[in-house]
Amino acid sequence: MAKFTHAMIEKNATLLMVLSLAVVSIGGIIEIAPLFYLQNTIEKVEGMRPYSPLELKGRNIYVREGCYLCHSQMIRPFRDEVERYGHYSLAAESMYDHPFQWGSKRTGPDLARVGGRYSDEWHVEHLTNPQSVVPESIMPRYAFLKETPLRTDDIAAHLKANRTVGVPYSDEMIENAEADIKAQANADDDGADAVATRYPKAQVRDFDGNPSQLTEMDALVAYLQMLGTLVDFSVYQADQNYR
Ligand code: HEC
Repeated sequence: MAKFTHAMIEKNATLLMVLSLAVVSIGGIIEIAPLFYLQNTIEKVEGMRPYSPLELKGRNIYVREGCYLCHSQMIRPFRDEVERYGHYSLAAESMYDHPFQWGSKRTGPDLARVGGRYSDEWHVEHLTNPQSVVPESIMPRYAFLKETPLRTDDIAAHLKANRTVGVPYSDEMIENAEADIKAQANADDDGADAVATRYPKAQVRDFDGNPSQLTEMDALVAYLQMLGTLVDFSVYQADQNYR
């Protein structure tokens, strides 16, 4: 019987493919399997909740405009990053992101914890004309967001689609989604308290400086202002194995 040699494997494409696949799978399993049981990748973290309808709208605009091409939302556990941006990102902080916005390039800074760092006015001014607040900025202008009315009739469908992939939106949240968008952008709205109850820590106010109109700018600024604000890191205890 012929001896089983390396040359035989190299000359038989199918065998070579099957064996390569086996070798690669071993590497893959070793890399991936632990993620299903390591505490810090599956932990539930206090404070995380699904996006409010207005925030979700803003997130959709963020994705539509390709902000992720220049901005990451993923603070790595390195000293330089933590000192600049704040606590490193937790897996749980992206658990309701479909798709996640970790990004792969930082032309501009990381935005995972930009919420609360600037005023609404600053964001509106910056998005309208970045060079007016950061003269050396190469960020494009998004002034049209201020003039574009926010579409609200499709939000219930967005919530339902998110529920299909596991985001725990309740029937009540879906039923009230359209009303909640309007209420979150107007602190005087009768539904403002309900939004804050359904979505703890939701910030309720006019975001774009123009209370008479609900615009895409309202939604995008509402989204930016909540980024990284849900988890209270003064009480969060990281898994002891991961320090
Ligand atoms: C071509 C790359 C590019 C794109 C696209 C881009 N940005 Fe930027 N962004 C930058 C750069 C560069 C800076 C740093 C200078 C500045 O503050 O303008 C920045 C800064 C920012 C800041 C301030 C962050 C901080 O911590 O100071 C925010 C907020 C921001 N961008 C939001 C957005 C949003 C929202 C979008 C999409 C609508 C977007 N950016 C699209 C390049 C980009």
